[in-house]
Amino acid sequence: MSTHGKRTVGRRLRAAATVATATALVAVPLTLASTAATAAEPHVDNPYAGAKQYVNPTWAATVESAATRAGDATLAAQMRTVAKQPTAVWMDRISAIAGNADGNGLKFHLDEALKQKTGTTPLVFNLVIYNLPGRDCFALASNGELPATDAGLARYKTEYIDPIVDLLSDPKYQDIRIAATIEPDSLPNLVTNMSEATCQRSAPYYREGVKYALDELKTMDNVYTYIDAAHSGWLGWDTNAAPAAQLFAEVAKTTKKGFASVDGFVTNTANSTPLAEPFLTDPNKQVGSGQVRSSSFYEWNSDFGELAWTAHLHRLLVAAGFPSSTGMLIDTSRNGWGGPNRPTAASTSTDLNTYVNESRIDKRTHRGAWCNPLGAGIGELPRATPAGAPADSHLDAYVWIKPPGESDGASKEIPNDQGKSFDRMCDPTYVASKLANQLTGATPDAPLAGQWFENQFRTLVRNAYPVIPANGTTPTPTPTPTPTVTPTVTPTPTPTPTVTPTPTATPTATPTVTPTPTPTATSGPAACTVRYSANGWSTGFTASVRLTNTGSTALSSWSLRFTLPAGQSVQQGWSAQWAQSGQSVTATNAAWNGTLAPGASVEIGFNGSQTNGSSTPPPATGFTLNGSACR
Ligand code: GLC
Repeated sequence: MSTHGKRTVGRRLRAAATVATATALVAVPLTLASTAATAAEPHVDNPYAGAKQYVNPTWAATVESAATRAGDATLAAQMRTVAKQPTAVWMDRISAIAGNADGNGLKFHLDEALKQKTGTTPLVFNLVIYNLPGRDCFALASNGELPATDAGLARYKTEYIDPIVDLLSDPKYQDIRIAATIEPDSLPNLVTNMSEATCQRSAPYYREGVKYALDELKTMDNVYTYIDAAHSGWLGWDTNAAPAAQLFAEVAKTTKKGFASVDGFVTNTANSTPLAEPFLTDPNKQVGSGQVRSSSFYEWNSDFGELAWTAHLHRLLVAAGFPSSTGMLIDTSRNGWGGPNRPTAASTSTDLNTYVNESRIDKRTHRGAWCNPLGAGIGELPRATPAGAPADSHLDAYVWIKPPGESDGASKEIPNDQGKSFDRMCDPTYVASKLANQLTGATPDAPLAGQWFENQFRTLVRNAYPVIPANGTTPTPTPTPTPTVTPTVTPTPTPTPTVTPTPTATPTATPTVTPTPTPTATSGPAACTVRYSANGWSTGFTASVRLTNTGSTALSSWSLRFTLPAGQSVQQGWSAQWAQSGQSVTATNAAWNGTLAPGASVEIGFNGSQTNGSSTPPPATGFTLNGSACR
């Protein structure tokens, strides 16, 4: 309470100082006059409508730099389109406010936002408030710096929220619409994970911290608050959804402005749950032994995607007392699920689970798999009031809260000073009880949460759905929620035709591979090098293969062959079409990575089974590229 009083006084003092300076100096009244002429924009119902959103130049530069290493002209151009998209700025620890080794501070971004605001077009700045005491109580990868104690809460208020509010309340930012995502995963954890001692300890601090953040942020008219509301695969069941709406209402009622403290809710933050399942449109459809929603994947949860979840939640929120104007956001940064494994039609199986598994675009082993899910792609580009989304979802916008390319957590222990721990949900070799005893499906070799993870980024761009246009421009949004955008292909300097990255059919068909009869170099140095690495566990392993074209000719398609040691076989591969006959494996380029310029590399990989349970499985041998031996 006292700290709060102190900070408010601080802000009043700054305002007073501005006025005093204005009367003392000649030049300043002009500034004051122009500020007065453009009085702060009024608070509106949907801040995204008719507005642009802030593009983080630091993240964009990282993406641009990845584009220079793409090794493929189409992919590089797609990355450059991605670089132009707005993403949120995360205040993930106290030092992020001033700026730290991982990025520029809040003032830098707000000043950049001022530069990006042109004319009278409003600008939305997506900001993530993410530093509660006892953060990430049901997981380890994003544990934070503040303990779940009274002292942790005091620091949250005075060293985290107060300085953020101080910066935001500088009058020069009053015309930037700040859309604040409030504390991802926090209140949802209190709905479903109160059996955990860590969440029990965090609970009072989450409630009090969220209340404090809302109270302080809502002292400014240009700030819009969106409370994180997990995703359909977490809260969609009525038995979770109803208590969630109740908890949100309870917390809102404790704030000074009550329900008016909350402008809306954001779902799917940093998750990969699709907007909808295009081939599973009726949860009650009967297939074989039961309804689709009763399958192992959906576990009786009827909300198959975020459009269903936002509509469901909005209904419950209004019933709990929130105004019907409450707006919803969906983080679509990583929920596209395109690429070669995306189904193109509903399954014809009469077995319920086979039908669901073959029909769904969400290729996770389980809907609880949250860490760097392998095979996910970028989803819909950020935009306001997306056409085609159902009216009862009450969407303000699709947004990119999680910046694509930033890791969710390290796949092994990495020492750090941010409080982050090793969560085995990020380890691709781990069979998780939280996932009904299945492998996590996490991308291997991941860095710490929040760090740039280029390998994942490449997959996210390649597996984007809708396909990312390759002309480096932002496309005109298409009217339906799951459209296919035919990319305009930029002319490339390579002599080979650029492939249009159309997602190919289901991965189950084993392709018959015709060996290419004309190897580039039949004699002399090998036309390729291969770097092969594998990590194993009792019954399986994950292998990464980096293939480089060391010949002098660009390839327009490629086929890599190798021999697996006895007892090993390919279970599921990515970034290529995989076939195995005896111990001989053939990986043929996917539609989007067939072009391989001289010197260019491609990364492919697979999960395999093994009978000898080695943690360092013996490597594959005898690699040939288009018939020519590799080194
Ligand atoms: C994570 C990290 C955080 C990062 C954010 C965005 O949850 O814990 O440090 O800023 O993701 O990538």
